[in-house]
Amino acid sequence: MPDSVTITDNRTGDSIEIPIVNGGVSSAEWRKLLPNTWFFDPAFVSTAACESAITYLDGDAGILRYRGYPIEQLAEHSTYLEVAYLLTHGELPTPAEYQRWSHEVTFHTFIHENVRKRFLDGFHYDAHPMGMMVSAVAALSTFYLDAKDIADEESRQKQVVRLIAKMPTLAACTYRFSVGMPFLYPDNSLSFTANFLRMMFEPLEHIRWDDPVMARALDVLFILHADHEQNCSTTAMRVVGSSHADPYSACAAACAALYGPRHGGANEAVVRMLHEIGSLENVGPFVESVKAGRGRLQGFGHRVYKNYDPRARIIKRTADEVFEVTGKNPLLDIALKLEEVALSDDYFISRRLYPNVDFYSGLIYQAMGFPIDMFPVLFAIPRTSGWLAHWLELLAQDAKIARPRQLYMGADEREYVPMERRTAAT
Ligand code: CMC
Repeated sequence: MPDSVTITDNRTGDSIEIPIVNGGVSSAEWRKLLPNTWFFDPAFVSTAACESAITYLDGDAGILRYRGYPIEQLAEHSTYLEVAYLLTHGELPTPAEYQRWSHEVTFHTFIHENVRKRFLDGFHYDAHPMGMMVSAVAALSTFYLDAKDIADEESRQKQVVRLIAKMPTLAACTYRFSVGMPFLYPDNSLSFTANFLRMMFEPLEHIRWDDPVMARALDVLFILHADHEQNCSTTAMRVVGSSHADPYSACAAACAALYGPRHGGANEAVVRMLHEIGSLENVGPFVESVKAGRGRLQGFGHRVYKNYDPRARIIKRTADEVFEVTGKNPLLDIALKLEEVALSDDYFISRRLYPNVDFYSGLIYQAMGFPIDMFPVLFAIPRTSGWLAHWLELLAQDAKIARPRQLYMGADEREYVPMERRTAAT
């Protein structure tokens, strides 16, 4: 049987055979038969917008791999910084490469004083940290003018290191600003995650920021969130990157996409939902209200995973380790009950809705001492390496500027009506 599809235009009887290559059919072939007929595919549900060698995801089987390495093995043995290298360079680093990479990242963690003093300090006192983050990342483009030189390989690599290194510093800045604490400079003797925890929380005594279990848990969470192929924010990065904007501007667009509750804001929504449920007795009625169409079960369902999200499995183990140190998050019992009720209910089973990565990540972050507003920011820190890997890939492929088509549904041509002759009906 040939690995192809045949399309016939019933108006003319003309047909074309299009080979299926790597699971896709080329729209260029389709255009030869039907030059002005567009695929109607809102939200790109059935469209592969690029070829990519970064992340493999099989939503039916619940498989996730970065550059071929199973997420389970990376979460078990690797660090976020090593995974960031893997994503952006394509291979795991040798000891010498890793030493050079971690030195470079560590020594680019400082941000220009003006970013903090003039820019971040100018926000309103109750600004949302993610709103500040979106703007601060965009503002970095005004500090590194060489970033515009995207054709230069050396310049590209420099921005990659800068962005990965500065995200935790900016994130900690937004938090300390929002609670009125003085900014703390990075400590280059610490690991990536230990340094971030210190910049966030020192000298707070009720938070176990210097416990190595916390730094390791954060490493695992960062690994799990580092990339997820063509998700909403990565698509934003690729679309803006395809116009050849500098990587800070493209990354700010990706951050903005991540801000929404359907994407990076989901773990925040989960914790708010669990608070709202409030007790085990309310779980059943809450699930019924979701089934009746009054809201969604946050942290459930995924565009691609129609099986248990493999990241959610790993996260459950990390939650146990963190709760050993911090004490159990009181919302955990409600979450477990909710999962149990939903997974045995036909509404969720028939729609293949399972817990996703964000169902438990918010509970862990909250137990670690992070305020809810910081959750999307915590997602943006590691996802930056994924965004940059896609940006580098896009430029290496010399991809065309993103420019989809539309099906026009508006008015036909009509005459301009002068204002004095217009009524509400016209
Ligand atoms: N609770 C209740 N019903 C749901 C949910 C949910 N969380 N998700 C989907 N459905 C239902 C939906 O109502 C629809 O039912 P019907 O066929 O009767 O109309 C069906 O399932 C299919 O839903 P959809 O909206 O077509 O699915 P989608 O692929 O467009 O949406 C999603 C994916 C993640 C936006 C959605 O599942 C959702 O809103 N989940 C809650 C928010 C969430 O947890 N987001 C985090 C995603 S993981 C982090 C990341 O990778 O960014």
